[in-house]
Amino acid sequence: MKQYFKVDEWRIIEEGFNPHFNKVAESVFSLGNGRMGGRANFEEAYSGETLQGNYVAGVYYPDKTRVGWWKNGYPEYFAKVLNAANWIGIDVSLNGEQLDLAKCKVLNFRRELNMKEGYLKRNFRAVTATGKEVEVESIRINSLADDEAGAISYSIKPVNFGGYIKLTPSIDGDVVNKDANYDEKFWEEVSKHTWNDGGVLQMRTKKTGFEVATGMKYHVSVDGEPEHIEAEPVTREKYIGTEIRMEIKQGQRVTLCKYAANLSSQNHPADEMMGLTQEFLERICHKGFDAMLAEQAAAWVEKWKQNDIIIEGDAAAQQGIRFNIFQLNQTYTGEDDRLNIGPKGFTGEKYGGSTYWDTEAYCVPFYLATAPQKVSRNLLLYRYKQLGKAIENAKLLGFKDGAALYPMVTMDGTECHNEWEITFEEIHRNGAIAFAIFNYVRYTGDEQYLADYGLEVLIAISRFWAQRVNWSAQRQKYVMLGVTGPNEYENNVNNNWYTNTIAVWCMRYTLDVIGKVKSADLAKYSELKYRIGFKEEAETAHFRDIIEKMYYPYDDNLKIFLQQDNYLDKEQTLVKDLSASDRPLVQKWSWDRILRSPFIKQADVLQGLYFFEDEYDIDTIRRNYDFYEPRTVHESSLSPCVHSIIAAKLGDIERAYQFYLRTSRLDIDDYNNDTEDGCHITSMAGTWMSVVEGFGGMRVKDGMLSFDPMLPAEWKALSFKVGFRGALLNVEISKQSVVIKTDSEEAIRLKVNGSEVSVSSEASLDLER
Ligand code: BGC
Repeated sequence: MKQYFKVDEWRIIEEGFNPHFNKVAESVFSLGNGRMGGRANFEEAYSGETLQGNYVAGVYYPDKTRVGWWKNGYPEYFAKVLNAANWIGIDVSLNGEQLDLAKCKVLNFRRELNMKEGYLKRNFRAVTATGKEVEVESIRINSLADDEAGAISYSIKPVNFGGYIKLTPSIDGDVVNKDANYDEKFWEEVSKHTWNDGGVLQMRTKKTGFEVATGMKYHVSVDGEPEHIEAEPVTREKYIGTEIRMEIKQGQRVTLCKYAANLSSQNHPADEMMGLTQEFLERICHKGFDAMLAEQAAAWVEKWKQNDIIIEGDAAAQQGIRFNIFQLNQTYTGEDDRLNIGPKGFTGEKYGGSTYWDTEAYCVPFYLATAPQKVSRNLLLYRYKQLGKAIENAKLLGFKDGAALYPMVTMDGTECHNEWEITFEEIHRNGAIAFAIFNYVRYTGDEQYLADYGLEVLIAISRFWAQRVNWSAQRQKYVMLGVTGPNEYENNVNNNWYTNTIAVWCMRYTLDVIGKVKSADLAKYSELKYRIGFKEEAETAHFRDIIEKMYYPYDDNLKIFLQQDNYLDKEQTLVKDLSASDRPLVQKWSWDRILRSPFIKQADVLQGLYFFEDEYDIDTIRRNYDFYEPRTVHESSLSPCVHSIIAAKLGDIERAYQFYLRTSRLDIDDYNNDTEDGCHITSMAGTWMSVVEGFGGMRVKDGMLSFDPMLPAEWKALSFKVGFRGALLNVEISKQSVVIKTDSEEAIRLKVNGSEVSVSSEASLDLER
């Protein structure tokens, strides 16, 4: 844990320039607006260690699969999130010497991510190799109000010299992905156009043919007065720039406001984008930087109204949760049902594709409570629309009759992960997709979704499970062989308890939903049955048989569920027996050693107990938690949050708090030594769950919210907001009381600490703790 950034409730602050942490800082200070985003790279040139990253949502490249040993069923390609044209660049030349912080003495460096108002600010003084000293300030936004726009205000003041300064704002499409299987460049130029104060560069992705027009326009002022300065366009392949030369006196401040636009052919006709981008730039440039900044602040105020969590008495915890909420809102706004939430969002390229089971298992609960219903519905519809491809995917692996296996990683529904133990075996992802339907309906009460879309997905998933199990004559039970559970530090195991459990749960839920849809809308049900060739009697009988006769590994002595068959054959060492030099295992040990070890990457049995807690008594949950947690290395960012929630449920508030800190400050403190690749966006939703479901004890049961609040000793008070069925609730937990307020005129029934109460805008609730 590094504690490199300063603790502040609304800001992330870096003081002093440490090139060693630059890539971590670039990730942490990333900006995004759901449509576009990027890492906190510098505007001016930087020859030090950096990972350049600008991303346009939904734009990807199918990078041909590269594996040593091809296996039938492998996907043809891995979908790469594409590093797109760099719109932030402003090259600075001081009397002919390029400003490059890697070659300067850097003084008073400060970077600040203002989460309240959504901007990134950087200040520094730099002394170049020849002794020229400049003072620089830059402020940058990715506009929420205009989600195809970005803007930068960049000012520079020569401190100890006067002379020629050349600023070259540019759009550079000659970019690469660090992670490219064949070191290929993924973009080709379509066209470019420059004019005196800007230009547009239109690029096309190879193979997928997405086109993105990236444009810029700028204003220059000197000591606050607008200056018209002759500028000269410079172009080369995949690049446009404008050289602005000025003679500046010592102490004068030059400010360049650069407005940028990113229009994608997903949203505009490609052949009109050049003109549309110019119009767009005119508009935002006319608006001006200050107005854009004010709009940005206002848009964030709106977001925070629904999203903020206030932790009193613990600034590090407060900063952590706000950072997570901020990044989630930067990544996905729910406006567009073709988009999803990549594990790294707009903060890095790692993990490729945009959609993992992370979305359903972790992100859906966050968006259900903090955004309008259509946002989580769009996340569900994304999978509904990809059902055809999930059926194709299952067919490729030998399944039939409409069985669906959703991909482990995808951009457009096609599987694009190519490690066999994950692609073919980590099939529990199907379960999370079904669980999200259940979760959405349980939370919103939108049962119509089941008839319109949900049931079709559920039947296809249940069909998959029904074909994936086999009957074991020896056990006289159904078994599921050759799988990888959520714990990816074990592959090709038999009877992963979590996978068997969620498979059976899916089939049970499917039967339940069939009943519901049949009685609510028989005609619709019959139409679906006919359309997908559902042999109701035979297929449901098969589901029932599996439900009844599934095998679950269990140890009678320890009275715990076994993560998989023979888990106890492993040498039962504990994480506390590992030395610091062994960690993280994934970086220090051979893969073979990890596979044979008892160490668990992330919640596995405990993930199941988290999802299905109502089916198990508290002692069962405790025994399994006490057994598995000491064996878990939490090397997936998705792990600490689930442990935090379970620890809170078990009343182990101190452990819950430790896990919370770890999950919420995972990236800020670079716990897993990998923040330089990007932030762990999807697990940030898990952080939110650990506050609201963990400390707030929030659950939804029988169409009603319930709260079992508790406070870590370190906190004076906690308050959070949740939207529920059209009402916004504000829950305030202090050492003395629980106060719940709502904007709803109608009384809302709730449960607090097990007792039913009601709350309305007229009568808020105030209970002693
Ligand atoms: C985890 C997976 C997760 C993926 C993307 C992996 O490290 O083990 O469960 O889906 O990261 O976040």
